[in-house]
Amino acid sequence: MSTSILVTGGTGTLGRAVVARLREAGHDPRVMSRRPGPGHVVADLVTGDGVDAALDGVDIVINCATTLRGERDVVATRTLVEAFRRAGCRHLVHVSIVGVDRIHFGYYNGKLASEEVVRAVPHTILRATQFHDLLRTIFAVLAKLPVMFVPRLRFQPVDVRDVAARLVELALGDPIGRAPDFGGPEVRDAVDLARSHLAGRRRLIVPFSLPGKAFRAYRAGGNLTPEHADGKITFEEDR
Ligand SMILES: NC(=O)c1ccc[n+]([C@@H]2O[C@H](COP(=O)([O-])OP(=O)(O)OC[C@H]3O[C@@H](n4cnc5c(N)ncnc54)[C@H](OP(=O)(O)O)[C@@H]3O)[C@@H](O)[C@H]2O)c1
Repeated sequence: MSTSILVTGGTGTLGRAVVARLREAGHDPRVMSRRPGPGHVVADLVTGDGVDAALDGVDIVINCATTLRGERDVVATRTLVEAFRRAGCRHLVHVSIVGVDRIHFGYYNGKLASEEVVRAVPHTILRATQFHDLLRTIFAVLAKLPVMFVPRLRFQPVDVRDVAARLVELALGDPIGRAPDFGGPEVRDAVDLARSHLAGRRRLIVPFSLPGKAFRAYRAGGNLTPEHADGKITFEEDR
């Protein structure tokens, strides 16, 4: 009997890469989305609509769904975990963020609380650093002005294809609880990354700092995992 795999958030930035990786490996994953589409099972993790049906007959769930609001994320994760239990699934692989226990603000607090919720079932949690796509999206917005204000921070950006490969590897193994963190190949200054993103376009880059604990924790490198620079694809290689 073949293994049935569900990717929640399979239409998102990371989820699409996970689905592609699974297909390359010969699997035929179900994709949970709130919208109908080819190969989709329609469900909503916040309202609970369609979730039991989406998990029916599933062995492995790779949870790449996020609502971008901390407390909603916890609700969504709880809904998923309860349905996972009812359906008798075998392994829940959950994506989190490096530093959620060191940096405290709404979204990260929700991610940390979600990790706790996931621990109720056989699980593997993978914390990753910031995706290239996230930084490029932020830089694209910042570059709209002639002066580009860039936070005085460091990042260890990672390519979602690298994260997806690791998630699939973990998903096909036994649940191991918290996996070693997963970071991109290089720790870089945000200013340096912004310059690289501009690729020769002329902007005056002005670094800025913000007050507050969250920025300080970020500035202290709470978002980094230099000892796990496991991603292969650099920021420049992902254009
Ligand atoms: N972005 C980063 O730099 C980064 C770094 C480390 C870890 N992560 C984590 O990686 C995961 C994926 O992030 P991402 O950037 O790929 O997210 P994304 O592109 O914003 O995608 C979010 C996904 O969640 C689904 N979703 C949203 N609300 C839902 C709901 N109520 N019910 C069911 N599905 C819902 C969306 O599906 P539909 O819209 O199709 O319904 C979409 O596929 C998240 O857990 C995030 O915290 C992100």
